[in-house]
Amino acid sequence: MSPRSVRGADVRGKRVLVRSDLNVPLEDGRIADETRIDASLPTLRLLLDRGASQVRVCSHLGRPKGPDPALSMEPVRERLHELIADDRIEVLENTRFNPGETTNDPKFARELADGSELFVEDAFGSVHRAHASTVGVAELLPAYAGLLLERELEELGSLLGDVARPFVLVSGGAKVDDKLGVLHNLGGKADTVLIGGKMAEQLRDENPLLYEVVLPDDVVGAAAFEADAEAGVFGYAELPAGWLGLDIGPKTRARFTDEILRARTIFWNGPMGVFEWPRFAAGTKAVAEGVAAADAFSVVGGADSLRALNELGLTNRVSWASTGGGAALELLEGKELPGVAVIPVA
Ligand code: 3PG
Ligand code: MG
Repeated sequence: MSPRSVRGADVRGKRVLVRSDLNVPLEDGRIADETRIDASLPTLRLLLDRGASQVRVCSHLGRPKGPDPALSMEPVRERLHELIADDRIEVLENTRFNPGETTNDPKFARELADGSELFVEDAFGSVHRAHASTVGVAELLPAYAGLLLERELEELGSLLGDVARPFVLVSGGAKVDDKLGVLHNLGGKADTVLIGGKMAEQLRDENPLLYEVVLPDDVVGAAAFEADAEAGVFGYAELPAGWLGLDIGPKTRARFTDEILRARTIFWNGPMGVFEWPRFAAGTKAVAEGVAAADAFSVVGGADSLRALNELGLTNRVSWASTGGGAALELLEGKELPGVAVIPVA
């Protein structure tokens, strides 16, 4: 059952409120990556093309505790107006400047909904949050799913149905607890589960999962957590006391690449090491290149994995690059997404 689509909504002459996920990374007040802005454009264009009289776009940006000039939507508003020069578009200020956003305060929801006749939820990256702009407004206005939200649910959702095999799951990164749920649910269905990053250390000590996983044989170890620390390749068990594993080693790279290239379905979330530092980037790069080269339905999620793909120019070579981090994980865990559940089904 899918939420009803904006494609079926009569928007001509209507004032529409849209929740997009314009929570982009900022560096020195500048937008460091536009992926989420680009991904929100098709829905906005559809509404304008179909004659909406006003399109008010709202989003959160960062995690402010109240009004914070450093997290103003201004740079995003400017960029959006460059990309779509139409004065029916209005970009509201950061929803999290109002404390009622994260508590889903009905008063703030009413304030957001005020003056609009229809609500379109397109912020896939935020639908795991039951906030005023994701759930509150959808209870006040007739709500529809935007094009990005629909597509994300479809692409990610297809991993939950019948998949072409072998199905290879690749997981890494530092947020181990966030990912165990997905490993429990989706990992049991995969033919091979490859684990790198910090995740591997934890699962080596104690594997709470009900199936076998492939852990690294070797590791690039460093004497300290520094980009230019003394480093070398070690068997996983031979890492000197006090040293840190900051990437998977060459044997593991080859093994993981081999498994990935034979896959027909892939889900990858989380880097294999500290890829921001070039000396510890080879593992993540090998996985990204493997996923891009595989003749498979490949889905990549999570901000770090997407950043790695973007930096390598490989984003267009995967089947689906999800704009959702936490939301994608919760969907694949089988959890209900409050921002989706509130939209009437088609
Ligand atoms: C994200 O970046 O994952 C989404 O925009 C949600 O942001 P949040 O984790 O601060 O709620
Ligand atoms: Mg997040």
